[in-house]
Amino acid sequence: MSGDKELTRRVFLMKAAVFVSAALAATTAVPIIGYLASPLRRLGKKLKWVSLGPVENFPSGRTRLASFQSPNGEPWDGLTDRTACWVRRVDESTFQVFAINCAHLGCPVRWFEQSQLFMCPCHGGVYYADGSRASGPPPRGLFEYPWRVELGRLMIHAGQLPTLSTEA
Ligand code: FES
Repeated sequence: MSGDKELTRRVFLMKAAVFVSAALAATTAVPIIGYLASPLRRLGKKLKWVSLGPVENFPSGRTRLASFQSPNGEPWDGLTDRTACWVRRVDESTFQVFAINCAHLGCPVRWFEQSQLFMCPCHGGVYYADGSRASGPPPRGLFEYPWRVELGRLMIHAGQLPTLSTEA
């Protein structure tokens, strides 16, 4: 009788151990599988033309901060999928749209109207108004988004931050 009880307890404990081990394995495996599958998820992402607003928002000869929503955002991203960029309207029909990130290590650069320079607060990188490198550690000028005007709105080809790997 006590041998049957012992056997039952032993079987129960063994089954419980198997169940707990399986649950732990599943808990560990889900994020690992998600990580390994993430490149496949990125394959489905697309570059899209997104609007920065009416061209009238960008006066000729001026540089303005603009923002747009990432075309690859997820519903739970909230405000974090909004990205900023600098728009320079060279003349009535020519724009430059710069990535806000410094070409050195990616800190957000700021535009200083008085000096007509972009400056990076992290390591002192400086860029001229046309985005070319002026001084400091950045190895090159600011990255630029392709742009076009469509139905009176300034559009940029977004979805991926411009970097060396995205340039043709
Ligand atoms: S990140 Fe801008 S100078 Fe280093």
